[in-house]
Amino acid sequence: MQELRDKYIQAIGSAADEAALEELRVQAVGKKGEISLKMRELGKMTPEERQTAGPALNALKDEINSALAAKKTALADAALDERLQAEWLDVTLPGRDRRVGSIHPVSQVWEECTAIFADMGFAVAEGPQVEDDWYNFDALNIPGHHPARAEMDTFYMHRAAGDDRPPHVLRTHTSPVQIRAMQAQGAPIRVIAPGRVYRADYDQTHTPMFHQVEGLAIDRDISMANLKWVLEEFFSAYFGTKVKTRFRASHFPFTEPSAEVDIQCSWEGGTVKVGEGDDWLEVLGSGMVHPKVLEAAGVDPSQWQGFAFGMGIDRIAMLKYGIPDLRAFFDSDLRWLRHYGFSALQVPTLRGGI
Ligand code: PHE
Repeated sequence: MQELRDKYIQAIGSAADEAALEELRVQAVGKKGEISLKMRELGKMTPEERQTAGPALNALKDEINSALAAKKTALADAALDERLQAEWLDVTLPGRDRRVGSIHPVSQVWEECTAIFADMGFAVAEGPQVEDDWYNFDALNIPGHHPARAEMDTFYMHRAAGDDRPPHVLRTHTSPVQIRAMQAQGAPIRVIAPGRVYRADYDQTHTPMFHQVEGLAIDRDISMANLKWVLEEFFSAYFGTKVKTRFRASHFPFTEPSAEVDIQCSWEGGTVKVGEGDDWLEVLGSGMVHPKVLEAAGVDPSQWQGFAFGMGIDRIAMLKYGIPDLRAFFDSDLRWLRHYGFSALQVPTLRGGI
């Protein structure tokens, strides 16, 4: 019995893990373990032998069981210690720096325009960037031979030999959305259409892709006076200061009469300030929608009339935020984006907040 005891106590003491410990438990006190078998032999003993061997075996079993339990706890403690060491974490270390992205000035100004015009009752309309040439030109009273087609430096989509679909272009302006919106909704209608437009042109103030916001308001008695009011309201809200406009007679095939609109500004030391001074800066084209355009869109020109305008989003972004070169808008230079970009939390709101 002493031998058994020494053997197991020693083995338990040096067991490396729980699995080894469990093996020892089965060997010693399991159903067919050495000690259990010895206990079964008690039956064959004389009562006198049993009187000493019984309690001794029971004591041995208890001793082994408690040695097993103690070792089990010790092993678990050691494992926990080891884990705590391995998983130790210094929560006072500075965080890893991760740059937050920024909202592009075009996106910001796009949202600002949408918010201001929405406040005046304009909904947002959309059209495709790859546009049918009927929508981009013909429906806007620009027939095939019209010089405006050439002037616009249009990108034509490639057509495979034998493709007899109407020619498609990258839209040169957002004006085709006027037609699509009127076809879809009829009159009365009040929409803006912000979007990308394309012309083959590249210098400090022109890029082959840029952004416009179209405006269209058709009702029974809408006039140029309403146009002027809407634009002055818009510019005053957008620039956060009262802005006067100047209308200059102009020509667009899709409006009659037509006007180019300038906003009041001053030039001081090479920087432009909007809403003060005696200078003027051209910002958009506009006019009363031509009866032929209404007709092409299925709106009866004897019943309905209204205005339209088209404004450069990039241009008014440059003006408001003092950005000198348009080309940088589309260079994806992170330094530029960080400098001119907006926090995602700077959500445009009406007046003051913008
Ligand atoms: N589509 C014209 C342009 O891109 C602008 C415009 C729109 C003019 C609506 C009049 C009316 O230059």
